[in-house]
Amino acid sequence: MAKFLLVSGSPRSGNTELILKKIFEALPKEKELILLRQKNINHCKGCLSCDKLKKCVQRDDMQAIYPKMQAADVLIIGSPNYFDNVSGLMKDFIDRTNPFYKTDKLKNKKAFFVVVGGGEVENS
Ligand SMILES: Cc1cc2nc3c(=O)[nH]c(=O)nc-3n(C[C@H](O)[C@H](O)[C@H](O)COP(=O)(O)O)c2cc1C
Repeated sequence: MAKFLLVSGSPRSGNTELILKKIFEALPKEKELILLRQKNINHCKGCLSCDKLKKCVQRDDMQAIYPKMQAADVLIIGSPNYFDNVSGLMKDFIDRTNPFYKTDKLKNKKAFFVVVGGGEVENS
């Protein structure tokens, strides 16, 4: 059976989390929802040690998330739209996946993105 890993990049318990929780509830048994707001994830320091080592030298909660990403068949990534981009939390998470870059460790996984936005459109 497929394993699902859901990751919320909202710094609050808001709309992104609500949607991911609804998706989570509807999925079969093998699943995990990670709330980045509850994790300690440093900024990427840009040392590029991961280019050579294919792993990150920083010791924080990302170390437990890397194997979960590899074990999952389906990644469901959610972020609020912040200034037409992902949230800072999500950007840090994405940057910290650089050890996977140019490897086949996430190859053939399915990925889905949930983006939540709001606010008024002005001057359109
Ligand atoms: C700093 C900041 C920037 C935002 N920028 C945008 C934006 O560019 N476009 C948009 O549609 N909504 C924008 N929003 C609104 C959020 O995307 C919206 O409130 C979303 O529901 C927040 O997600 P959450 O409830 O999961 O925290 C912004 C909100 C914040 C706090």
